[in-house]
Amino acid sequence: MNTVVAKASADQVERAARLLSLGELVAFPTETVYGLGCDAFNDQAAQKIFEVKGRPADNPLIVHVLDWPMLLEVAEAPLPTWAIQLARRFWPGPLTLVMPSRASLSPRVRGGLNTVAVRMPSHPVARDLLRALGRPIAAPSANRSGRPSPTDARAVDEDLRGRIPLILDGGPSEVGLESTVVDITLSPPALLRPGGIGREALETVVGPLAPPTQGGLSRSPGTRYRHYAPKARVVVLTGDGDALQSQLSVLDQGPGTLAVMAKGSVLAKLAKEPSRCFSLGETAEDAAKTLFRGLRELDRIDPDSIAVIWDTDQGIGEAILNRLRKAETKPEDTLLFLCSGNTCRSPMAEALWNQRYALVSASSAGLLATSGAPATESAKRAVARFGASLENHRARPLARVTDEPLMVVTMTADQAQAARRLRPEWTSRIASLSEWLHEDFGDIIDPYGSSDEVYQAVARKLDSLLPRLWQVVWDRMSKER
Ligand code: TXA
Ligand code: MG
Repeated sequence: MNTVVAKASADQVERAARLLSLGELVAFPTETVYGLGCDAFNDQAAQKIFEVKGRPADNPLIVHVLDWPMLLEVAEAPLPTWAIQLARRFWPGPLTLVMPSRASLSPRVRGGLNTVAVRMPSHPVARDLLRALGRPIAAPSANRSGRPSPTDARAVDEDLRGRIPLILDGGPSEVGLESTVVDITLSPPALLRPGGIGREALETVVGPLAPPTQGGLSRSPGTRYRHYAPKARVVVLTGDGDALQSQLSVLDQGPGTLAVMAKGSVLAKLAKEPSRCFSLGETAEDAAKTLFRGLRELDRIDPDSIAVIWDTDQGIGEAILNRLRKAETKPEDTLLFLCSGNTCRSPMAEALWNQRYALVSASSAGLLATSGAPATESAKRAVARFGASLENHRARPLARVTDEPLMVVTMTADQAQAARRLRPEWTSRIASLSEWLHEDFGDIIDPYGSSDEVYQAVARKLDSLLPRLWQVVWDRMSKER
């Protein structure tokens, strides 16, 4: 199929509406990100959206409406008064409300749920298109599933060329991140996805919002998948000052190329200007607008890793951090340090590691751990000398570890054997520190009950071995990619 990218003139909007009424898909600009639209009542067209995007079938679409009469074509009235207040305050704009659905709406659009996510966009082209079609338009973001959402026509073209007939070009998106999704079928309403409108603004209308989970299951199917992921490994750094500098220099010295994304003023303050960097501007609004374009741009120069420095979770900052966390390296790319009680050796290794090697995050566990036990005071003091902290550590038994780690690193050879017996499916991933480093320095001895000096000697030993472990981890990671 030939894909036309056309300036969103009145003629082209008419043409787009015609294509939609024939059951075709059209990409169009909205104030948040570009959408991939279809007639919301056309089941076959909705099916095409899933095929074109490579989208999981259980992930429902957002329905876009022009006005209140059009809203009532898809949503089942009556809505609670406070929900109407919310809509009146923020519509048209980057807010999506999950509400009871009309049965006539395509079940494919709803992902099999009895609710529908609706939004009234403010972008003039989106509104003209809705007016021209005269029907609601179902539209997810116009990217291939798993890629950053497109904030200009070029990004849509990059992902969907040859798969759809028309991309309406309306220039760069104003907000740059997707809408905020709020479930109003719950009381209190739940924030399913932070987005273009900050939590604080919503809460002034409806009071505190509930978290997105219920009984541990996410209510918003789309939030389960890894998203916004460029080809490079992404690591989010939230610190500042010396801690940040040292994390960055470790990443920079590591194998492969590193790119850095941060506010312009943060980039300017870095001790060594990275060779590849992308400025997110100065305000959170700037950063929202440029984040996805930045991830795509860096992808084109193809670094091995991207470090993003971001620390604000106020207003739209919450949505930025949320998208960054989804773009981050997968949970199976983690390191698990293992000892017996998970109160001394393995937590010390974890803390020392995480302080330096953010690209692969470490956790720890114990073969015989008591759930929730804190680290020993001596262990806390020993890692504090290295600038790391174990104040929030809580012990957990190996049996509670659910995600398969990249590598399990035990403190002794016996522990490695015991771990292999307990988790035979992980056998090839389990070895003692000495085995991983191919050097026979024996076991890391248990300092439990000993003096602070013994603890400190263990911390020093671990600290001296971790840079070599980093090499082993990186090699293994590169092989598994
Ligand atoms: O800003 C936006 O919202 C953009 C523009 C194009 O409007 N659209 C967008 O759509 O981001 P999409 O499909 O990429 O994200 C829709 C999100 C997903 O997380 C999906 O799971 C959730 O909304 N969603 C849709 N219908 C839902 C429902 N009935 N219940 C719960 N979550 C729903
Ligand atoms: Mg999307």
